[in-house]
Amino acid sequence: MDKLTIRGGAPLRGEISISGAKNAALPILAATLLTDKPMLIGNIPHLHDITTTMELLGQMGSELMLDERMVIEVNNRDLGRLYAPHDLVKTMRASILVLGPLLSRYGQAHVSLPGGCSIGSRPVDLHLKGLSDMGAEITVNDGYIHARARRLHGAYINFEQVTVTGTENLMMAATLADGRTVLENAAREPEVADLAECLNRMGADITGAGTGRIEIEGVDQLNGTRYDILPDRIETGTYLVAAAMTGGSIRLKNTNPALLEAVIEKLSEAGAGIACNGATISLEMEHGSRPRAVDIDTSPFPGFPTDMQAQFTALNCIAEGRAVITENIFNNRFMHVMELRKMGADLAQSGNRVMVSGVDTLSSSTITARDRRASACLILAGLVARGQTLVEQVYHIDRGYETIEEKLMQLGASIKRLP
Ligand code: UD1
Repeated sequence: MDKLTIRGGAPLRGEISISGAKNAALPILAATLLTDKPMLIGNIPHLHDITTTMELLGQMGSELMLDERMVIEVNNRDLGRLYAPHDLVKTMRASILVLGPLLSRYGQAHVSLPGGCSIGSRPVDLHLKGLSDMGAEITVNDGYIHARARRLHGAYINFEQVTVTGTENLMMAATLADGRTVLENAAREPEVADLAECLNRMGADITGAGTGRIEIEGVDQLNGTRYDILPDRIETGTYLVAAAMTGGSIRLKNTNPALLEAVIEKLSEAGAGIACNGATISLEMEHGSRPRAVDIDTSPFPGFPTDMQAQFTALNCIAEGRAVITENIFNNRFMHVMELRKMGADLAQSGNRVMVSGVDTLSSSTITARDRRASACLILAGLVARGQTLVEQVYHIDRGYETIEEKLMQLGASIKRLP
């Protein structure tokens, strides 16, 4: 299994380009199941989760072609198997996103219960409840969800909790349903709005995406289109934190500052100078200064994203002062805490809170990545640690970050992948 070795100490400097957002690419690939016309999707990030999704679609009968510019052409003329098997779904929870489109277009779907990152219990009850409110008959046996409906009908669905993939699944299902669906307390994440934009280009009738109330008027069929995925705000934020921690100065191209307001605000509070110009964000730590500690409280968009929590925990480990990190979205999303302690960080966990007292330096160690964002945070810690850090099980990071070591090397980091 791949490992990364990092020699810490070098401030990050230079310019890199941000990739397309994984969390938009996955639902948009699932949305191609809603049409029998060809779809072209651009700005696809080169990640394991994308390969898994292509495999998932391929084994159902999709024809997929990926060109060298990372544009995927998907053709779903003849789907043979309306089935998402356990061996694929267990590696990627987002596979649940095929459920809504398959059911809506074909009247049935059989999807394994999802696995994915081990960050607390992550049920899909709200996806299933919403589909059954739209008329689906759902049974779960032997670890599989079996869903059937002659044609879904519109419904009023008020989510008791904000769920990103839940909103996406029901929004996709509603595009071909009979009548109007209202999703109340819907996720407002930019990736939900990106999916809605793509669906509307395919001929769907969706309004309100990006707000807490989405309305979908069902149509009889959807067409193909060409769509480019929006930039990855979590990848963007991760490199900004890396530069702030190392006292560096970087420029990130092909991103979108409007997607990162909560993160940029926290970085400014930590002492980073940030300038946004169109699709470019620059960050500079004056005279390589040490960041100040910043409290973090995660919440659904537009609040501070849970997917940036681990990276800011790492920043606080070497910041001046003390901070409290509160995780409100997932339980058990502190798997990085134990590993950061091995590097000399001062962290105390109590329930969904971690108290961090900044230390002057971290020391190198052998540490294990346990989920995607946690592995990013350990790499950030390695970039500032004294000596050589070995990060094990980096396959988690390959699921969420495109060519991370190449991009970090481009910024002057000393990092190497070992088989
Ligand atoms: C998505 C993102 C993930 C991000 C998360 C929160 C994708 C592919 N993944 O994950 O990167 O960390 O949003 O921003 O977009 N819940 C239920 N029942 C359900 C569904 C969710 O109780 O049926 C709970 C979850 O356990 C969790 C909370 O709702 O506590 C939010 O989860 P959700 O927004 O669904 O996360 P994902 O969509 O899986």
